[in-house]
This record gives sequence, C-alpha cells and structure tokens, in this order.
Amino acid sequence: MNDGFAYIDRFAPGLPDPTPKFAGFPPFNFIGGHNDPEEIPRDALAEAASRVIRREGAALAMYNLGVGPMGYPPLRRFVADKLARHRGMAITADDVLITSASGQGIDFVCRLLLQPGDTVLAEEFCYAGAIGKFSRMGMNVVSMKLDDDGICIDALAATLAELKEKGVTPKFLYTIPTIQNPTGSILPLERRHALLALCKQYGVPVFEDECYADLVWAGGAPPSLYALAPDQVIHIGSFSKSLAPALRVGYAVAAWPVLSRMLSCKTDGGTGALDQMVIAEYFSAHFDDHIARFTAVLSEKLDTMVEAVAREFGTSVEMFKPKGGIFLWLKLPDQVDVRTLIKPAADAGINFNPGPEWACGGPAAKSYLRLCFALPSKENIREGVAALARVCFAQTGIPAFSDNSRNVA
Ligand SMILES: Cc1ncc(COP(=O)(O)O)c(C=O)c1O
Repeated sequence: MNDGFAYIDRFAPGLPDPTPKFAGFPPFNFIGGHNDPEEIPRDALAEAASRVIRREGAALAMYNLGVGPMGYPPLRRFVADKLARHRGMAITADDVLITSASGQGIDFVCRLLLQPGDTVLAEEFCYAGAIGKFSRMGMNVVSMKLDDDGICIDALAATLAELKEKGVTPKFLYTIPTIQNPTGSILPLERRHALLALCKQYGVPVFEDECYADLVWAGGAPPSLYALAPDQVIHIGSFSKSLAPALRVGYAVAAWPVLSRMLSCKTDGGTGALDQMVIAEYFSAHFDDHIARFTAVLSEKLDTMVEAVAREFGTSVEMFKPKGGIFLWLKLPDQVDVRTLIKPAADAGINFNPGPEWACGGPAAKSYLRLCFALPSKENIREGVAALARVCFAQTGIPAFSDNSRNVA
C-alpha cells in the first residue's frame, strides 16, 4: 500500500545522498572511529550512573537540568581541569561549552564563520567528516602540506602569501595538531609557535580539533594551540575516543563572544544530560587510570596491526606509525588505486577507509588507506589484514610476497 505523498518529488534541493539501511558490521571492520568494546568500563559506568541518578536525578525534570545550556557544571569543571592538567590550558569551567560531541562543535564553528565561496585551510590528509562539511557548505578548501611531524611551516607560509597576493584571507585554519587524523602525527612545539605567528600575521583564526589528544602514547604532546594563544584559537574535543562514541558528548573552548554565538546555534534542547552526568561522575574519579589502561591496550593493538601489515604486505607498504589514537595510515605503491579494492574487499567481509575520502586532494591520495585498530580484536586484526592482502593481490598483483612467501594467482 502506498497512498501517501511521493516525498521523493518534494525533497529540498541539495540534500546529501540517501543512506542505505544499516546491514550490520562486516567480519573485518577497520572503518570509522569505533572504540574497543572490551574497554568500556561497564561496571564502573553502571555504578557512576546509579550514584549520580540517585543523587541528582530530580534535575532531569528540567531542560538542561535547570542550569542553562552550557552543560552540566561538574562536567564543565572536569573538562577545564583535564585541559589545564593535560593540555596546558589556563581556563575555568566558564570557558567550556558542552556539545553533542565534537561533530557539533565543527558544525557550530562552520555556521559562525563560513559563507559559500569562502576559503579555509585544512591539512592535506584530513578528517573526512570535516572535509565533507566544508565542501557541502561550498568552501574553497586549500590544503596544507604535511610531513611526519604535521603541517610544514614553510609551505604554509608560502600558501598564505600566495592567498594574500590574490586578496584572499582564509576564514580559518582547521588543524588536528595532536594525533592528526589520519596520519597520527603530533605537531612539535616550535611548529605550533610558528603556525600561530603566521596566523596572527595574516589574520587567520585557528580552529583546533583535539579529538584524539587524550590518547597519546608515552612521551606526551606539547600544549594545545589554545594554551599557547587563547585569543587566536577555537578549541574542540570529545569523549568519543577516550570513552565511548555512542555517548554523544564533546566540548568547545573559546572566548565568550564565540561561545555565546555557539550557544545561540545550540537549538537541540541540550546535550543528553544522562550522558554528561555519567561521564562527569566516572571521569572525575577515574580519568587518569582509565587513560593509562586504555592507551596501553591501544598501543598493543597497534603493534599487532603493524606486525600484521608488515607480514602480509612486506615492502609493498609504507606505514605512518601513529603517536597515539586508533588509526594506522598506509600507502601502497602508486599503481594501486585503493578505490578498486573497496567492492572486492567488502565481498570478502572487509571494510577499510580509502585515502581519497581522507584527503583534501581526493583522487591524489588513491594509494593511501586508513585502518582502525581499536574495534577489532588482535586475532581479528591478524586475520583481517591477511584477508585484505589477499584481495589486494588478487586485484593488483601486489603484494608479491606475504609472510615471506611469493603469492601465486
Ligand atoms: C578529527 C575528528 N574530529 C571530530 C570527530 C567527530 O567525533 P565526535 O562527533 O564523535 O566527537 C572525529 C570523528 O572521528 C574526528 O576524527
């Protein structure tokens, strides 16, 4: 029976393509930023939830818990304290706006600063979600060259000078300086200072996305860009990677004129209050031990993936070993276009992120791919990487050797 409206004729122009119905994860799922199911602290979260609901649950009767749209005050205090201790930021809870994860933070910053046709600067390899948002808004995205330590400052200086020649001032410079997505690099301190100096010289605000900064291996990271120049930087972060992406909670830190405008864009009735309360209750007591345990697990899983990739792809692959986080970024030889592997890999039960989706230059990154090592178990990583190498060999003849043996057709 179909006597309703033919909605298909009535949709507004310019909508994104329809999303297919979710068919479940494939056996080897290396895509997206999922977390490790074994590392969700279920008992401690259940205790935190029970405690905080018994103590403060009556406030759920009110929008925004009756304390206004900036977020649950104990969570804002926790974020301010965490960023002061770990990211060198001299802030208080008043500087923190809780968002419905950091994706909402990106939406707000775009909404506040961009109009179609504007120019933004982004790293040449970059978070696909941000690239997608920028291009859907009709931005001219100018890419910044990366090396193993992140943004190359000389190249950035040349780009800014060229843009100025043409009379263009980018609306912002979007960067993931601490555990860059997808390359996993950490921008060194001198480069942070140099980047901020250039941005000041050319009048370009910095939009800093620190989605992965809690997941740095031993050795740590320099202070955030916000810590070094609070008046030049809008900073966002998330609990998706440090705790759980299904809890949709993140935060933005910026000067009040920016935060107050973000607040006006926050028309969702408030970020889920229970999520905020449980995170505050759990992390206020357990952040440091949780992060120590979790990063140790992730770093072991990375080792497993690096070993598997080295074994299965041998010298055919270049690996960019991350300094933290949940992704391994890889390059296959130039003649491999990973886009031709997507369908055969999916048929073999393997999903991976193709480089062109994670690059401002799109097709130029055709030989790159990204694998997430947080969600799969170690066994699943070994089997899945071997299965991917078989698919790649069947399609391209590469890798010629796996596990020290010549592959045969
Ligand atoms: C760099 C970066 N920023 C933001 C996000 C958005 O994450 P969330 O909205 O879950 O905080 C992601 C997700 O993968 C990301 O990689």
